[in-house]
Amino acid sequence: MQPLYEGKAKRLYTTQEQDVLRIVYKDEATAFNGEKKEVFAGKGELNNRLTSHFFEILEQAGIPTHFIERVSEREQLVRRVTIIPLEVVVRNVVAGSLSKRLGIEEGTVLETPIVEFYYKDDTLGDPLVTSSHINLLKIATSEELKQLSDKALRVNEVLQPYFRQNGITLIDFKLEYGKMADGTILLADEISPDTCRLWDQATGEHLDKDVFRRNIGSLTETYQTLFNRLGGNTQ
Ligand code: C5P
Repeated sequence: MQPLYEGKAKRLYTTQEQDVLRIVYKDEATAFNGEKKEVFAGKGELNNRLTSHFFEILEQAGIPTHFIERVSEREQLVRRVTIIPLEVVVRNVVAGSLSKRLGIEEGTVLETPIVEFYYKDDTLGDPLVTSSHINLLKIATSEELKQLSDKALRVNEVLQPYFRQNGITLIDFKLEYGKMADGTILLADEISPDTCRLWDQATGEHLDKDVFRRNIGSLTETYQTLFNRLGGNTQ
């Protein structure tokens, strides 16, 4: 089938069905807008399994996503959407860019979750944008933005207790949404240790891509540990 798009961590192909696409997860990890790059054998398979698992949990909780099914070690079928060029970040605990931007110590627990929007544009370095910027760029209407924020918080309400039950704190995560041909907004892209910060509740150990960004551990071993902690061996 036709290659449609190649991103940093995934390739997208058409299928025989007009409304269905095939995603292939790559072994490549990138950070800092692609400046740091490395290949880790097995990463694609782990992220495909983890993303599929998280999307299944969300679907079971009544959250519509683009996910249809995982079809092989590295591949899944998804519904075709047009991606809204926003990264929707939800934060429960201060870390990463929020800590740097506002000078608040990493690990500070937020009283209520924070939602942020970043404009998906590699040449601009994905800047943080306000609702006025988003309206100015005609990316989404105020009503759609409210929907995105509500939907992202709902994902947090499902995933936060799920990770807590497994001894893991969901610090923050990034979501992407897409529009189907009829305008319906669906959760799309991926949810994986590439796109979440996950800290071990007891030890504070990082179980996510920060081990690669910060050179503090083996990415493959970390993702495998996360997979096993979430019952991966029995899936
Ligand atoms: O870097 P920052 O602190 O803003 O990241 C917040 C969350 O969004 C983290 O979980 C990070 O993994 C995720 N993120 C992402 N892709 C980006 C930027 C951030 O998945 N381009």
